[in-house]
Amino acid sequence: MEKSINNSGSIRVGYQCPSNIALVKYWGKKEGGVQLPANPSISWSLGDLYASTIVQALPRENDQAFVFTLAGESKPSFEPKIASFLTKIASDCPWLVDFTLHIDSQNNFPHGTGIASSAAGFGALSLCLAHIEQLLLGDSSLQSEVGGMNFWQRSSYLSRIGSGSACRSMFAKPAVWGQTPAVTGSSDLFAVELDFETHPSLSNWKDVVLIVDDGEKSVSSTAGHALLTNHPYAEARFGQAQKNLEGIVLSMKNGDVKSFIEIVESEALQLHSMMMTSIPYYVLMRPNTLAIIEQIWSFREQTGLSICFTLDAGANVHFLYDGKIEETVMNFVNNTLLQYCKNGQYLCSNTGKRPVEL
Ligand code: DP6
Repeated sequence: MEKSINNSGSIRVGYQCPSNIALVKYWGKKEGGVQLPANPSISWSLGDLYASTIVQALPRENDQAFVFTLAGESKPSFEPKIASFLTKIASDCPWLVDFTLHIDSQNNFPHGTGIASSAAGFGALSLCLAHIEQLLLGDSSLQSEVGGMNFWQRSSYLSRIGSGSACRSMFAKPAVWGQTPAVTGSSDLFAVELDFETHPSLSNWKDVVLIVDDGEKSVSSTAGHALLTNHPYAEARFGQAQKNLEGIVLSMKNGDVKSFIEIVESEALQLHSMMMTSIPYYVLMRPNTLAIIEQIWSFREQTGLSICFTLDAGANVHFLYDGKIEETVMNFVNNTLLQYCKNGQYLCSNTGKRPVEL
């Protein structure tokens, strides 16, 4: 539906934005600058695990920058993050001072399941803001460039300031954030999608998120990134990520599944190794995380199937597999892996969907 500014000067827009799973991990920020990555990362969007956000921008009547509700209910614990985000983007979006934003958001997956809910949430909010910006420019076709960025880049740019990984949620193709010689046009400021079609052997993969632990994270990702400052292995890690980024892009081009799997699993283990070797140190895997990894390895050994795992900064396992073998994989999940999941919980998603306007 085409949106415009109504007679009372209010604007209403909405977006559904997917979460994403990093294949090469963003872990560590550059010193100086606002939320710039220490190394490039690449992810698949998780189209079936998303946030839906409606923003109504009403002419500002008092000093209130925003009102936030989670599925219609007020949620004070979310407010500081949103307030801080809006403050950080104030110079990029000077028009914000003229409005009070009524933001209502909800995820279609439970909070605290280790899914990057901040990625989907900040992604959806930023798409709404970038859309409002276009309407204020009188452009309902979203074709205007703002700050030298097209609509998708601008949405990605804004969301990065909210949560780094969010900036990779804007694209259907694999999204790369962070400057790298491996990807033309790549930037630290926003993500770009790969400019070629992924080889068919890697173009239709899916993700089952096996919930090992659904409690609060023992280390927030913001605190986690900070552990890389003065980390003895930081420089080596950033170099590895650059190399893995180049390798994974090549594997997606050539359909080299073996090399893809090796890079994805190695990246997950490197991420956790960095946390085990920082001060303070953390072990974020749980016994069932390891049990699942071992089961996946032994199943792959027996069957030769295109399957692998990755991890975020937590105990849950993202089990990635070629969509062609879905039935076999889901039988394996239900017969073998379910016993390791907290209360038998898991979430399923396709990869490779872009956000949808509501
Ligand atoms: C382990 O994007 O959540 O998921 O930028 O501080 O909000 P902030 O961190 P966040 O970090 C995500 C880290 C990761 C890896 C990744 O998604 O690349």
